[in-house]
Amino acid sequence: MRAIAVTPKKAGSAQQVELPKPEAARGLALMRVLEVGIDGTDTEINNGEYGEAPPGSYVLVIGHEALSVVETVGEGVQGFAPGDLVVSTVRRPDDCPNCRAGESDMCLFGNYTERGIKGAHGYMGEYYSEKPEFMVKIPAALRRFAVLLEPLSIVEKATFQAWKMQERMLWQPKRAVVLGAGPIGILCTILLRLRGLEVHVYAKSAPDSQQGRILADLDAVYESVDDHPVMRIKDELGQVDFILEATGNSTVAFQAMAQVGTNGVICLTGVSAGNRNVEIPADVINLQMVLGNRVAFGSVNANRRYFEAGVQHFQQAEQRWPGIFDRLITRRVPFADFKSALDRRPQDIKTLLTIAAG
Ligand code: BGC
Ligand code: ZN
Repeated sequence: MRAIAVTPKKAGSAQQVELPKPEAARGLALMRVLEVGIDGTDTEINNGEYGEAPPGSYVLVIGHEALSVVETVGEGVQGFAPGDLVVSTVRRPDDCPNCRAGESDMCLFGNYTERGIKGAHGYMGEYYSEKPEFMVKIPAALRRFAVLLEPLSIVEKATFQAWKMQERMLWQPKRAVVLGAGPIGILCTILLRLRGLEVHVYAKSAPDSQQGRILADLDAVYESVDDHPVMRIKDELGQVDFILEATGNSTVAFQAMAQVGTNGVICLTGVSAGNRNVEIPADVINLQMVLGNRVAFGSVNANRRYFEAGVQHFQQAEQRWPGIFDRLITRRVPFADFKSALDRRPQDIKTLLTIAAG
């Protein structure tokens, strides 16, 4: 079968490879991949900054956001049948207590693998096989945009955890800020609007961009960072209860910490693979964190519980804003043009690599 693989740590190494077709062995389902979403992690892996091949392999099949259809199921597989649509989770557990409790996204030992990222092949090929416990069934009505479930699961986790932390007091959040208008920023805005918050999105793209129009239809306020610098958020908006950092820019992350309101919480989701040192208003941040009971936390990955929450929210959001998720998919690229799919263009929100029809 055809797949796209990189040589980890080698920049621009993505290439088409030929691999044996996996089998639906006992306890496994064989999945035919329909389409794969590309994100910043894939770009970083293809830039040679991140990624690890499976043991015994020189290459890593990339791709961790995939919509697939069950082709066959092996002996002993229950709950799935040929034709079912599936999105599989990314992380595979080690034997730490959290992983054993189904929370591999909170892994303690760090010996987890991540399909398409760390020590396990991903989904950017014609087929893959998987255990049912890592497969999430997708209602047929969500076919067009279900490939967005993995990035949605990331913000499901981030928001769930923030709200859980805030159970430390009486908390009635009204205003949120989202930094970045990529898929993570927009998907988080959708969840926050479903929760009834006023949302301000700070980003670089122009308000008349596709991002800006989507956010306007969500009744979120789009603020261009050219006119509204992150350092002024607090002065411009007043009390901000929740901030989601989704730019992956560490300068922005630290600047934003000084903008959270009293008793507020900021969640960092962007990964920065570099070694940058920046100047930050350390005294101001320290003082504010203490005097305002503020919380700053990082959030990575998502376990299947968050994928399942995402399936519910897909349905709720689609009812309220019909077609909203389709508008996030700005490019569909045929398999042969995988290199162009991996190149980020300014107008892109989510790019998909089409693997098969169906
Ligand atoms: C993926 C996560 C993963 C993280 C770090 C992200 O792009 O969505 O599942 O845990 O990268 O490897
Ligand atoms: Zn673990």
